[in-house]
Amino acid sequence: MLLNFPGIPHRHTPWVRMVVMDDTAIVILAAGLGTRMKSRHAKVLHRAGGRALIEHVLEAVLEVVPPQQIVVVTGCQAEAVESLVRDRGVRFARQQEPRGTGHAVMAARDATAGAKRVAVLYGDCPLLTAETLRRLIAHQAASDAAAVLLTTFLDDPTGYGRILRDPDGRIVEIVEEKSATEEQRAIREINAGFYCFAAAALWEHIREIRPDNAAGEYYLTDLVKILRQAGKMVLPLPHDNSQELLGINTRAELAAADRILRERIARRLMLEGVTIEKPETVTIDPEVRIGMDTVIGPFAQILGRSVIGENCRVGACAILEDAQLEDDVAVEPFSVVRNARLERGAQVGPFARLRQHAHLAPGARVGNFVELKNTSLGAGARALHLAYLGDATVGQDVNIGAGTITCNFDGYTKHPTHIAARAFIGSNATLVAPVEIGEESYVGAGSVITDDVPPGALALGRARQVNKPGWVEKRKRERAAEKRRSESPL
Ligand code: UD1
Ligand code: CA
Repeated sequence: MLLNFPGIPHRHTPWVRMVVMDDTAIVILAAGLGTRMKSRHAKVLHRAGGRALIEHVLEAVLEVVPPQQIVVVTGCQAEAVESLVRDRGVRFARQQEPRGTGHAVMAARDATAGAKRVAVLYGDCPLLTAETLRRLIAHQAASDAAAVLLTTFLDDPTGYGRILRDPDGRIVEIVEEKSATEEQRAIREINAGFYCFAAAALWEHIREIRPDNAAGEYYLTDLVKILRQAGKMVLPLPHDNSQELLGINTRAELAAADRILRERIARRLMLEGVTIEKPETVTIDPEVRIGMDTVIGPFAQILGRSVIGENCRVGACAILEDAQLEDDVAVEPFSVVRNARLERGAQVGPFARLRQHAHLAPGARVGNFVELKNTSLGAGARALHLAYLGDATVGQDVNIGAGTITCNFDGYTKHPTHIAARAFIGSNATLVAPVEIGEESYVGAGSVITDDVPPGALALGRARQVNKPGWVEKRKRERAAEKRRSESPL
């Protein structure tokens, strides 16, 4: 008597698991263009949750088997897809023309030689977890089925292949959306596109697939009917979490996958002790690390390989990319921090921009509308309003007045500015690089500084002020006299 769920425990002993996985090749289909994406880029290269779709699938698969047991079938933009994942050490097989999923699996035949079973997945399903994949493979290994495939029930099954079962619960056929009758389209159980085949049955029958459908493609799903007609068994493995099986065909589905992947990251971080306000609005990349008691504001984006320490604050709408924040750092709302290092207790923003090796020593502060490029501020230094500091080194406890500009570019090359410890740069100073401002010196507000300033000096680089007493009264009288003349009839 066959069962819907052959009696296989979910947890296997490590030994069983190991032996089963050793005999398994995993084929990932990634050769299609993805017409429904309306894109010039191969579908699996599109990004969601901070990675290309194919990278997500590979990440899950690599948790299950070593790279030499993984075959990625490429075709459309094969070089780009292969170069993206080559460093993982997986194997590749080329599908010369995109003639359907069945055709793509045929291309992987040689590369899987020797495997007892072959799991096939699609490169456009980025939400799959290693646990589910293991369960699928273990299920096939422990049954007599020629194939086991993951199914799920969807409220809206549009676009997916529908599962036709016999009264015993075995799968009779998969009907693709395009070929389905009205009645079949009402079936809510769908083919998720994750299969585990007995290798012998797969390779014996795959050549029987015919491109006799509206699309003229070799559908891998037709193999189900073929196996069944050959007297072999195909079992469904229904999966509760249908979200995990989402296949990406359109940009709208790409956005849905992105949301789910971001949610997973946010949830993991919250469990690790990070406060995330309105987590559904934040964008955090998978490799980002964040310490305990740090608070992330709504709509923040923390990208790339950013590392954030404990007890930091990343304000609403701030964007951090490849940023390193030590403990107790505050990045206030709407600041953009890229490729920068902020040491303990540093403060940035709101509305600040730090980029290209910007560095704040402990306790340094950068305020609103301040841009730092390739510039380092010493401990306790501050530039609190409206400044541009490029290619500058700023010493400890320096005060940079509002509106200070380093003129670091002469139209040909960039030049450095050095400001030594405890110097005071008055507001609206223009520092024409290359230039050095000595320790504890003062630069008068509004100065244009073209020469080095010695330590302890006051530098004034502006025209002296002239006051003209009574000028306004005198001007009023002149204007009145002019008016009388112009109005006189003569
Ligand atoms: C496929 C299934 C459908 C299932 C759905 C689950 C078939 C015929 N249909 O439909 O039953 O419900 O996935 O998501 O398999 N690819 C190639 N070479 C090709 C064609 C496709 O490598 O010639 C790759 C694509 O890059 C993609 C994957 O196979 O990663 C799936 O192809 P896609 O066209 O998206 O299949 P669906 O129409 O979604
Ligand atoms: Ca798909």
